[in-house]
Amino acid sequence: MKKYKIAVVGATGAVGREILKTLAERKFPVSEVVALASGRSAGGEVSFGEDEVLTVHDLATYDFKGTDICLSSAGAKISEEFAPRATKAGCVIIDNTSHFRMDPDVPLVVPEVNPQAIAGYKKRNIIANPNCSTIQMLVALKPLHDIAIITRIVVSTYQAVSGAGKEAMDELFVQTRGVFVNDELKKEVFRKQIAFNVIPHIDVFMEDGTTKEEWKMSAETKKILDPKIKVSATCVRVPVFISHSEAVNVEFEKPITAAEARAALKKAKGVTVIDHHHEDGFVTPVECAGEDNVFVSRIREDISVENGLNLWIVADNLRKGAALNAVQIAEILVRDYYK
Ligand SMILES: NC(=O)c1ccc[n+]([C@@H]2O[C@H](COP(=O)([O-])OP(=O)(O)OC[C@H]3O[C@@H](n4cnc5c(N)ncnc54)[C@H](OP(=O)(O)O)[C@@H]3O)[C@@H](O)[C@H]2O)c1
Repeated sequence: MKKYKIAVVGATGAVGREILKTLAERKFPVSEVVALASGRSAGGEVSFGEDEVLTVHDLATYDFKGTDICLSSAGAKISEEFAPRATKAGCVIIDNTSHFRMDPDVPLVVPEVNPQAIAGYKKRNIIANPNCSTIQMLVALKPLHDIAIITRIVVSTYQAVSGAGKEAMDELFVQTRGVFVNDELKKEVFRKQIAFNVIPHIDVFMEDGTTKEEWKMSAETKKILDPKIKVSATCVRVPVFISHSEAVNVEFEKPITAAEARAALKKAKGVTVIDHHHEDGFVTPVECAGEDNVFVSRIREDISVENGLNLWIVADNLRKGAALNAVQIAEILVRDYYK
């Protein structure tokens, strides 16, 4: 079996560490794994699987010649800067940042939804991983789109702080403690207090008053699933460490019952349905942290519209929302396309 030299850019971050863990757990065929981050962490160490420790190298001075695949999650600006250098050296980038997602020459892929798009990677040697909120929503909605054709989605998200990186997780921890011991609450990552609060603002504001996170959910859904689907999103940061939740209202072209939706989702790859009408019969974010699948609960008909359904969708944002999705893309790439 062929083995591949893999670079992980952003290896010291929340997503990068999860990528290293996922590569090891899924036994991705590696000949060598190189951990890359900024000069600040060069010389430090990160774990790769249970037994291996990797020394962190500085991305700025790394020579990509001979590196087959790079899984990157160090921010959009960093990807913009290093991508030309890496792709010119023959390396294929699977990028977790927003930088290349809407480039028409870059496939934007959720393996359960549009794996065939990976074939288009050759134009730029780049494949983009969608936004975490988009990934989990589309894994759950694709099987329903296949049977009844989605026309409109109204989604409200409840997004974990890990979606904003390791410093955001620290801020929630320190603020939570600070409330109890009466410390002054420092607001560095989030402009407003995140402990015991919710913040209806993720990423920058656009001209029309939506936030970029909300715009991403719409634009990415159109690129990945169907350009005709209309999406109205409200994205909210909540004081949860891991896993994003979404309350999703969907309108379809054809009638679809809750029972039909439940049956389709039970058969779908990457989806677990937990939907019982009692106090334990649904999934919360804490319960799916560390899990691979997207969890769907509270499936019910919305009688206020024609052909409407409501669903509650939860997934680990660092795993299926980032690392796992990227590693699954790499697996399909080496299995079907990369020679
Ligand atoms: N968290 C999520 O759920 C999620 C999901 C999908 C996509 N993403 C995207 O993934 C990216 C990273 O997210 P994260 O949550 O992992 O952030 P994070 O925890 O803050 O980690 C950032 C990583 O980027 C590295 N980095 C920063 N500046 C760099 C530079 N100049 N050169 C090389 N490396 C540099 C950091 O290295 P140092 O330790 O050296 O600073 C660190 O490894 C973001 O673009 C984010 O939008 C995140």
